[in-house]
Amino acid sequence: MALLEVTNLTKHFGGLTAVGDVTLELNEGELVGLIGPNGAGKTTLFNLLTGVYEPSEGTVVLDGTLLNGKNPYTIASLGLSRTFQNIRLFKNMTVLDNVLLGMNNHHKPHTLSALLRLPKFYNSENNLREKAMELLTIFGLETKADHLAKNLPYGQQRRLEIVRALATEPKILFLDEPAAGMNPQETAELTALIRQVKEEFGITIILIEHDMSLVMEVTERIYVLEYGRLIAHGTPDEIKNDKRVIEAYLGGEL
Ligand SMILES: Nc1ncnc2c1ncn2[C@@H]1O[C@H](COP(=O)(O)OP(=O)(O)OP(=O)(O)O)[C@@H](O)[C@H]1O
Ligand SMILES: [Mg+2]
Repeated sequence: MALLEVTNLTKHFGGLTAVGDVTLELNEGELVGLIGPNGAGKTTLFNLLTGVYEPSEGTVVLDGTLLNGKNPYTIASLGLSRTFQNIRLFKNMTVLDNVLLGMNNHHKPHTLSALLRLPKFYNSENNLREKAMELLTIFGLETKADHLAKNLPYGQQRRLEIVRALATEPKILFLDEPAAGMNPQETAELTALIRQVKEEFGITIILIEHDMSLVMEVTERIYVLEYGRLIAHGTPDEIKNDKRVIEAYLGGEL
């Protein structure tokens, strides 16, 4: 059985079928791409999988657990974590606090020991800090730990979003256009980081991205959406040469 099984997933917005009859699966440890022209339904699909929207039809099953009807917080605690197409950081908090906030969802110190400030509380707080700093170091942000998130350059804010999502120790990481707005050098660095995260953490990743060089370089399999429907699925090489995909991108770059 796959780690995530999505079956006949559909989302209507009024008369529009933003996601139509999508069936796909993610296996443990895979790095999968999700591509398609603007408005194809990629973000909506993420929103369905992470509980932001309820499907009109179809099912989402994580590790044997049906996610339909569960709220985003519950789904996050079951192991799905994401970044957003538009950066959503706590801009007036420090870089470190942004990361700690994600961790606290899952590793709440015992309330009583927190109230009484028992050693157990301090220990767990220190452990969390250490872990957060390790993640920030991997992403080259350790010297920025005390800076306010809003003062980071754009590319670093995007990386911080990934650190924050990783801090929850998800089973599956959903990245919505992580390289959007990055210059080629930042994109190349991010590509290397995503690969490193997959290898070091053995985490399952699904990635929406318009930057084809990034997608083709890091992913093992790719799903292609157009007008809410899956039109192709295969290895990067298969997708590059798929007639329907090339047609869907006509005028664009692939
Ligand atoms: N909350 C909503 N209400 C109504 N329509 C919506 C809503 N969210 C998305 N849509 C519509 O659903 C379709 C798919 O949008 P979606 O944002 O999922 O596309 P996308 O593939 O992520 O595009 P992009 O590459 O531009 O980010 C679009 O036509 C969009 O206008
Ligand atoms: Mg989108």
